[in-house]
Amino acid sequence: MTAARSIAPVLCIVGARPNYMKMAPILRAFDEHVPAIPWVLVHTGQHYDHAMNERLFSGLRLPTPQHNLEVGSGTHAVQTAEIMKRFEPLVDDIKPSCVLVVGDVNSTLACALVAVKKHIAVVHVEAGLRSGDRAMPEEINRILVDRISDRLYTTERSALANLVAEGVDASWVHFAGNVMIDSLLSSRSLAVPPAATLSEHGIDPALIAGGRYGVVTLHRPSNVDDPEQLRRLAGMLSQAAERLPLVFAIHPRTRTNLEKFGLGALLDNPRIALLPPLGYLEMLGLMDGATVMITDSGGLQEETTALSVPCITLRENTERPITAEQGTNTVVGSDEALFVRCLDDTLATGGKRGRVPEYWDGAAAPRIAADLYAWLQARAAS
Ligand code: UD1
Repeated sequence: MTAARSIAPVLCIVGARPNYMKMAPILRAFDEHVPAIPWVLVHTGQHYDHAMNERLFSGLRLPTPQHNLEVGSGTHAVQTAEIMKRFEPLVDDIKPSCVLVVGDVNSTLACALVAVKKHIAVVHVEAGLRSGDRAMPEEINRILVDRISDRLYTTERSALANLVAEGVDASWVHFAGNVMIDSLLSSRSLAVPPAATLSEHGIDPALIAGGRYGVVTLHRPSNVDDPEQLRRLAGMLSQAAERLPLVFAIHPRTRTNLEKFGLGALLDNPRIALLPPLGYLEMLGLMDGATVMITDSGGLQEETTALSVPCITLRENTERPITAEQGTNTVVGSDEALFVRCLDDTLATGGKRGRVPEYWDGAAAPRIAADLYAWLQARAAS
């Protein structure tokens, strides 16, 4: 038997909100692996607001990053380039065994690109998801990151075919399951009760008394950067509010645009509670008790499937087809009539029941830790 070699740290990257719930269980699994897998956590600073950042870190029990690149906002080119510039010297300094990136945000691509050019292995968690929509910035990030990754972990089996079709060697891909659901399951019992969240934000919890309410999030550029589209969606939410009260946690991009386009009044409705972006445990509590989720988020489509809460997705497509095929998700785009029909149907019948997909079982991160450790050992030996 060959002796285990010591491994240089895995350089783990987070940058934006949807990264945190994926990284938290991975770091815990690295610590719990025998032997422990050393890691260094880097925050690029893509998200920096307290609401988008620290509150999520504490809710997820995510350790404070050892390094923060503090890049902040910018155009895609500026943000990506700035992350690359600031990340490169850190890679030189740390000399990691690999750079591990999650999801599909600009930070994911920027750091993967720096690593591959330095001949450092890139590991991508949540590989192979495709919406088929290249107008989505995340789709470009996914395609490019997967193409330059050396080890790819998938959340659903359909992802493998997407990767192979793009020339990725199937033997580099490992179906590990969904790390975001690891976070969800380990945090569910700690979730903040919905009434407490409303009270904390100055909203009378009587709004959701009886437990019949919808939760709303919207932030995709295709939905909120175009005034006409945002007006249409705000109108659809007003219609929904006639049917059940809504709790809308507003992303800073959406809030800014509602004000900029003069659309705020459309949501000025006593049946719509407007909240800032929420902490992880607050959002989880609200979502778990909801009658329906109305969203354009990728992550929430998966989380509602895991919680068996019906989800209506205001997008033309999804990169997470399993949530619609097996889970509780219905993708309606921005077709008003379809939206209202789907909502009425959900309210009348309780909505799609769905089932929880394979390996969305709370143990995806330990599967990644075990595979990555073996893979790094094999590389070190070759
Ligand atoms: C990013 C991700 C998206 C993810 C989303 C979750 C990319 C291409 N997009 O989109 O995939 O679903 O995060 O939230 O990486 N802003 C603040 N405070 C912050 C962060 C942003 O006010 O802490 C505002 C700024 O005006 C900024 C805008 O939001 O310009 C957009 O932020 P950015 O990080 O570029 O993209 P997101 O829309 O958040």
